[in-house]
Amino acid sequence: MLTVALAKGRLEEEAIRLFARAGARLKPSEARSRALVRETADGSLRFLSVKPADVATYVEHGIADLGVVGLDVLAEREPDVYQPLDLGFGRCRMVVAGPEGSPWLHRYEGGLRVCTKYPGIARRYFEGLGYPVEIIELTGSVELAPRVGLAELIVDVVETGGTLKANGLVVAAEIMKSSARVVVNRASHKVRLDEVRLWLGRLRKAGRAKAGRA
Ligand code: PRP
Repeated sequence: MLTVALAKGRLEEEAIRLFARAGARLKPSEARSRALVRETADGSLRFLSVKPADVATYVEHGIADLGVVGLDVLAEREPDVYQPLDLGFGRCRMVVAGPEGSPWLHRYEGGLRVCTKYPGIARRYFEGLGYPVEIIELTGSVELAPRVGLAELIVDVVETGGTLKANGLVVAAEIMKSSARVVVNRASHKVRLDEVRLWLGRLRKAGRAKAGRA
């Protein structure tokens, strides 16, 4: 049995549907369960439901052989795992955003503050531009920060753009694109290579089949 850490939230349902198409269906009794460990009916896979930022931790420590998590989270955390497969769903963009009509970077006077759930990505981005900013880390609802004066800009993921719009913010720059990725523990990739390859192949095929490209 392989163990797969799944990022709870936006990606989890789509990931479970993809594994089902790839041949691993959850036991009917566990399909709607809130249990954090669930097994497939055929006993081939065990799923762990964990916070997105923790997927790589379970995989790095070898508790999970595989993981499914967004590239945005991987880019922030830079874990020591293989990243062999882009699953193509959960697409979003990591952007810099600010209030509509606000000046951009060099036209700001004084210290510029940036609120984000992704301090590593934000720091590297502004360092790359050679622009000093103060990074203020938040754990959610980042779009509130410019509105109430905690920061001039935010760095966050945008999917539909609805949250930015509802809070009077616009995209100032795109940092990267993101989508769901499969990650693999380095030891599992050696010791359980046949099983890992089998599942990567099945997921690839099931993903293509959905997109109608098989
Ligand atoms: C994410 C992200 C944005 C929002 C973007 O937050 O941080 O706030 O989704 O989605 P949209 O472009 O479709 O509006 P999430 O819903 O995960 O909640 P959080 O802010 O509490 O982390």
